[in-house]
Order: sequence, then C-alpha cells, then structure tokens
Amino acid sequence: MTLLRVEKVTKRFGSLTAIENVSLTIEPGELRAIIGPNGAGKTTFFNLISGLFPPSEGRVRLDDQDVTALSPEERVRRGMARTFQITEIFPELSVIENLRVAVEMAEGHSLSAWLSPASKRAVNNRLDQLLTTGNLTGKTDVRVGALSHGDQRAAEIMMALALKPRLLLLDEPTAGMGDQETYNVAQLVRRLHRREGLTIMLIEHDMRVVFNLADRIMVLGEGRVLAEGTPQEIAANEDVQRAYLGEVAK
Ligand SMILES: Nc1ncnc2c1ncn2[C@@H]1O[C@H](COP(=O)(O)OP(=O)(O)OP(=O)(O)O)[C@@H](O)[C@H]1O
Ligand SMILES: [Mg+2]
Repeated sequence: MTLLRVEKVTKRFGSLTAIENVSLTIEPGELRAIIGPNGAGKTTFFNLISGLFPPSEGRVRLDDQDVTALSPEERVRRGMARTFQITEIFPELSVIENLRVAVEMAEGHSLSAWLSPASKRAVNNRLDQLLTTGNLTGKTDVRVGALSHGDQRAAEIMMALALKPRLLLLDEPTAGMGDQETYNVAQLVRRLHRREGLTIMLIEHDMRVVFNLADRIMVLGEGRVLAEGTPQEIAANEDVQRAYLGEVAK
C-alpha cells in the first residue's frame, strides 16, 4: 500500500502561490529528499503534509485515507511525525526530560505522576532505546540548550521517533552544522532508515547528504516540481543544474 499520496496540492498565501499543483507518492521504506533553492516552497510542502495548514487545493492521503482535513495531532496518531527547520525542543530541560515528555505523551500517560510499575518500566525501556539510537547515552542529564547543534538535532529527532511514526519528515536536519556534525546527523538518518525501517522525507541543502542518503529526489523551484528521479537522474538533469545545482557549485 502506498504510504503517502499527495495529489495536486496548491497553497496560496494571498497573491503568492507558494506551492502549485505538486503531486508525489511515497512507498513504505523509501528515503526521499526534497531539494530546491531558498523560498522554493519546501517547508510549506511539509506543512501541508503534516497538517499545519490546509492546502488551497488538492488532497493528502495517508495509507490511502484522505487526511486533508485532519489536525496535525490526528496525523501523528496515524503515523506521521516531523521535525522543524528551527529546532523545537525545551532548552532548559535535560535530554532525558525532553524525551520523557515525548514518550509519556506517546504512551498516553499525559505527564501523570502515578504510573504503574509496569508502565514505568515500559517508559524507561523506550527511553533507553531512544538514547541508544540517538547516540545520547552519555548525555542523559545534560541540559539540551548546552548540547552541540548536532546532539540537539539528534535529541529532537528522537522526540519525533518517540511518537512511533511510520513516516518521518525532517526539515533541514543538518542546517547550520559543520562537517562532522553533518556527517553524524546523516548517519543517524541512515540508521533510522536502514535499521528501524522508517520511511523518511528529508528537506536538505547539503548535496553530499542528499546524494548519499536518498533513494529518490524531488526538486522544487518556485513552488513547482522541476524534476523527480534517482540521484543519478537528478545529477544529470540539465534543468536542475541550471536552476539549482549550478548555483550551489558556484
Ligand atoms: N505562513 C506563511 N504566510 C505567508 N507566506 C508564507 C508562509 N510560509 C511561507 N511563505 C512564503 O512561501 C514561500 C515559500 O516558503 P518556504 O518556507 O516554504 O520555502 P523553503 O523552500 O522552505 O525555503 P528555505 O530553503 O529558505 O527554508 C516564501 O515566499 C515564503 O515567504
Ligand atoms: Mg524551509
């Protein structure tokens, strides 16, 4: 079954058309990158998929069910989670406190102080798993605001993972990072895809990350699909080179 099907979505903000007639399908197990210049509409496209606002036209289907009118929370319940271009995390809380909020919410405990021993064990096991997956076991009690950029992003991705998504949307996970941190975050994304079998959509400016990770790439320009294909096809596409890759190489 197709996991995500976006059908001819358009999003207008007043006279500006940020996304115009964009369609895409994501099969389970894919790792799809969305690239394009600043202002191309990439984040807007994610906002439409995750339900932050409705499209002006078009539909979004998850598991072949129309979710266009559903809230972001309902989409999370149905298996979608995302991270934002600007890290969204509680900087004053420690790594484990941040993750605990996400895990307890995902388990439906809503911050209850009175968990049964079995529930407590389940939460703690899940926390251990997330800390291991995110390579954060040594930083459990560090305040998130004091972590490196890369570890903050890892913690944020683990918070999204706590929601047990089948489809994970990552908006520029390596934004503003140096080479080593970029590499670490890219490795984390690869592990989530390969080991946890997660289906991932990734907005990314770093072409090394894109071409290393993605099975397929969609290129957006001025709200429209410029090209769609494998990394090899995209690298060889002259329209894309003119519109985008050439810019990057300059
Ligand atoms: N909520 C909004 N209200 C009005 N205009 C918006 C809104 N969100 C985005 N836009 C506009 O839509 C266009 C696309 O923006 P978007 O943030 O989707 O681009 P992007 O491809 O993610 O860019 P970047 O690479 O800089 O993150 C821009 O012109 C932006 O100013
Ligand atoms: Mg953006």
